[in-house]
Amino acid sequence: MTTALTPGTFDPITCGHLDIINRASTLMDEVIVAVAESTPKNTLFTIEERTDLARKATAHLPNVRVESFDGLLVNFARKMGVSVVVKGLRAITDFEYEFQMNAINQQLDYRLETTFIMSPPEYMYLSSSIVRELAALGGDVSKFVTPEVAEALARKYTQA
Ligand code: PNS
Repeated sequence: MTTALTPGTFDPITCGHLDIINRASTLMDEVIVAVAESTPKNTLFTIEERTDLARKATAHLPNVRVESFDGLLVNFARKMGVSVVVKGLRAITDFEYEFQMNAINQQLDYRLETTFIMSPPEYMYLSSSIVRELAALGGDVSKFVTPEVAEALARKYTQA
């Protein structure tokens, strides 16, 4: 039984993330979407909100579950007994960062293997930060996120 982690900040989860999670779920027996609590990024959504939105967005995938984690990814992987990480790779801009993360994680625990799924062209440009900016400026995000995420974004920006 092969379980993979798909880690991320998911602030918020987008259709680009869902494409990768969906494809990982067809390759693996089980996928754990790992929502990072401690991140250098100043997040719009709390850890509870990011986890909840990710759970709702993946509820239709029977072999996918969502967990939040704090601290190092390698420690969370060890705790869950998982040795495979699957990440999406968009245009070359992602490569250097992912290369660095993989190298660090390998140094921390050589048993943790990271594999990459290439984003399809329609999601190559898509990121949570672009979605947040679009929503903040009153743009239509419905092509890029689930209806629940679109509503959550609208609530955040009308509160502000
Ligand atoms: O969606 P993102 O922002 O690209 O996800 C990055 C994430 C959360 C996967 C990465 O920052 C991470 O693994 N954070 C946990 C802390 C950690 O293990 N960092 C690497 C060693 S310093």
